[in-house]
Amino acid sequence: MSSIGENGADFLVVANRLPVDLERLPDGTQRWKHSPGGLVTALEPFLRTHSGAWVGWPGVADADVDAFEEDGLQLHPVALSSTEVADYYEGFSNGTLWPLYHDVVAPPAFHRRWWNAYVRVNQRFADVTAKVAAQGATVWVQDYQLQLVPAMLRELRPDLRIGFFLHIPFPPVELFMQLPWRTEIIRGLLGADLVGFHRPGGAQNFLWLARRLVGLEPSRGAVGVRTRPGVVQVGDRTVRVGAFPISIDSAGLDALARDKEVQKHAKQIREDLGNPKKILLGVDRLDYTKGIDVRLRALHELLADGRVDPGEVTMVQLATPSRERVEHYKQMRGEIEQAVGRINGEFSTVGHPVVHYLHQSVNRRELTAFMTAADVMVVTPVRDGMNLVCKEYVATRYDLGGALVLSEFAGAAAELTSAFLVNPHDLDGVKNALEAALTLDPAEGRRRMRALRRQVLTHDVDRWARSFLDALGTQSTI
Ligand code: ADP
Ligand code: F6P
Repeated sequence: MSSIGENGADFLVVANRLPVDLERLPDGTQRWKHSPGGLVTALEPFLRTHSGAWVGWPGVADADVDAFEEDGLQLHPVALSSTEVADYYEGFSNGTLWPLYHDVVAPPAFHRRWWNAYVRVNQRFADVTAKVAAQGATVWVQDYQLQLVPAMLRELRPDLRIGFFLHIPFPPVELFMQLPWRTEIIRGLLGADLVGFHRPGGAQNFLWLARRLVGLEPSRGAVGVRTRPGVVQVGDRTVRVGAFPISIDSAGLDALARDKEVQKHAKQIREDLGNPKKILLGVDRLDYTKGIDVRLRALHELLADGRVDPGEVTMVQLATPSRERVEHYKQMRGEIEQAVGRINGEFSTVGHPVVHYLHQSVNRRELTAFMTAADVMVVTPVRDGMNLVCKEYVATRYDLGGALVLSEFAGAAAELTSAFLVNPHDLDGVKNALEAALTLDPAEGRRRMRALRRQVLTHDVDRWARSFLDALGTQSTI
């Protein structure tokens, strides 16, 4: 176990967000709530069982919060001004890098002002981390918002062992080369001792760019999953580059799904929905990469074709509000709400809407109850680094019930091969997969779910973190 002594923390996670978000209420008071997104879902259970520190933004502009301890975890807030939230977070992180790294499904914008804010804020994260890390500590930097931190931190604290993990896809090199600051990003990442991606393809792309943009001589062999990392020599340092597919607290969710209260709640949800024959479920941040529009279009056509009976099938879509001031997100929200309204307008009867759309976040127990109640989980991103929702669904189905429809363009598709895999750009394919999942023979369903569960229960988040930290050479000290 590591400890946080007077001389700083031995193990630190550095991420754009803290695991808790500061919420300002209309009456002027404030409270902490759970932060959105897969990064926190994955890392929090690991950090809670290994004492350490977390450096991150408290989620609102101009929050002046001192370091504090929460459940044995030391939290170090990094303040952002409202201009920095606009330029670094909404701008460069989510208006440039997010669409660029997700195969330009929306056009990325390149603004020098956004880039300058990104550099400034990354430097601030590096400065705070350098102050609170103990001599020789392990620092694990997370995600696309902080790609310059590894090199900045190394400059300040050469004694540290630094890992970096990217939670979103790393793009094809032709797309990455569009970025005006491409060399700076690659140099920033090369400050780490280990750079990790979800899939070997991301690691290979990064190695190619290290050669092309920085003139280094990386290894040429194929990178494996959790094995055979690529290697690149940077001066007297060796940087390793590997693939580590992230996962979830599988056993924790499996146990929660077996909880009698959760099961009661699942039954209640079914009843509240009017006991439909089949329930379809979508759970996502409201993001244009998630393909919520795709599944709604497919459902609309299936209803219009008479292949799905609106009296028998109900869809629930839970959508966490996300990045609401970014233009593409505003536009997408409008389109999705219109599509829901259209389906309900055409196919619902009084008291029985076909689609129940909740623009809300629900807690862990409620989410598990929804997953337990759902006959078909629909996960149709046009691009996703991994996607944890599909793994969560599998972990909750200890009864071997339910069916998973999963996009080929989610990183998880490489592991969850017994799902109904779909190309989200092929609407007929999505419709066929939804119909097949809705009419699935129970024995075939159990066979598929058993195979999916074998994968998810044996490859949990603890295994992910251990494999990364082992490759970084620090597991024994944490
Ligand atoms: P991303 O990191 O892009 O948001 P992931 O699928 O990897 O996508 O992770 C999303 C996480 O957020 C999952 O743990 C999922 O259960 C959770 N989540 C998404 N939408 C909701 C919601 N409406 N209510 C509660 N949790 C949600
Ligand atoms: O993994 C993708 C990710 O962007 C995380 O970095 C982030 O914590 C999460 O999704 C939620 O996004 P945001 O922090 O922008 O609300």
